[in-house]
Amino acid sequence: MTFKLTDYLQSQQSLVERRLSEVLAKEIGIPAQLRQAMEYSLLAPGKRLRPALVFLSCESSGGTDEQAWPAACAVEMIHTYSLIHDDLPAMDDDDLRRGLPTCHKKFGEALAILAGDALLTLAFGVLAEYCPAKTAANCCAIVAQASGAGGMVGGQFEDMAWEDNVAGALRVPFGADGTRSVPTTLAEALEHIHSQKTGALFRACLKLGVWAAQGENPGGPDADLIERLDRYGHCFGLVFQITDDLLDVESNADQLGKRTQKDAARGKLTYPGLLGIPQSRQRAQDLTDEALAAIAPLGVRREGLAALMQFCLARNR
Ligand code: IPE
Ligand code: IPE
Ligand code: MG
Ligand code: MG
Ligand code: MG
Repeated sequence: MTFKLTDYLQSQQSLVERRLSEVLAKEIGIPAQLRQAMEYSLLAPGKRLRPALVFLSCESSGGTDEQAWPAACAVEMIHTYSLIHDDLPAMDDDDLRRGLPTCHKKFGEALAILAGDALLTLAFGVLAEYCPAKTAANCCAIVAQASGAGGMVGGQFEDMAWEDNVAGALRVPFGADGTRSVPTTLAEALEHIHSQKTGALFRACLKLGVWAAQGENPGGPDADLIERLDRYGHCFGLVFQITDDLLDVESNADQLGKRTQKDAARGKLTYPGLLGIPQSRQRAQDLTDEALAAIAPLGVRREGLAALMQFCLARNR
């Protein structure tokens, strides 16, 4: 029987949205306006792809949705906070998100910043409160690493630092502190930015699913499984951002729920901007093939992940 991705995504979406509402409702002492801003962005109609990856990864490691939901909620909270901050005037300065006015357009900049801060913090609270102790510790470390300065936040910095600097290339911002290798080509720089700003959190979703499935098992997960899912997660994240860049060029606000034609206007370093549309599509296809090859030995357990990878490549929103 073939995997029914649309049905699966719909059911995981309602599951995670129900849990997100419950978790938020249980938090006491949140000022009413702040709660409203948090709910507004968190429960707006997002695709919930990161939670779906956590659920699928957990399942492919022998775990259950009951074990995976706190991590699924945590990544969606981190992701939503990153969108709120990404849209601020000091960053991408956007007015439309998930088909609605952006958080700062609706509630003002100060409240939007604070709603983002609160969701970031709550993500760790959910892991600590609803996971068994050992799983919580592992998951907190994975999320901190992926979303922090060496992951998503670092990638967002580099994304901004490269604005309007594409032609001059390679002057800033890489390697100034000498702590990591300096990309030698723009293509390497681009791949590096994308794997950090978007890829790191996707990659974390796969790891979280595996660790959530472990429960209190002292043995830890199978190293080969971790390695395969990590490769898949790396490729998935890059394909996701390549398609995001392509949609910015080729789609429209009605379809996407966010403004388009913005990346070139802001001088962003993007795949279609650097390589053109056909080569960007080819790169996305090659990465998809690589992801599918990585999970091929997982047999029937790979079906959902394979279907989601194809969806990501072909997505139109
Ligand atoms: C948009 O992510 C931001 C990027 C990392 C490119 P999504 O396209 O997953 O946004 P939602 O959650 O569906 O709104
Ligand atoms: C956003 O990338 C990445 C993060 C929020 C971490 P983009 O700036 O390309 O996302 P959109 O296009 O605004 O959704
Ligand atoms: Mg951005
Ligand atoms: Mg943006
Ligand atoms: Mg974009």
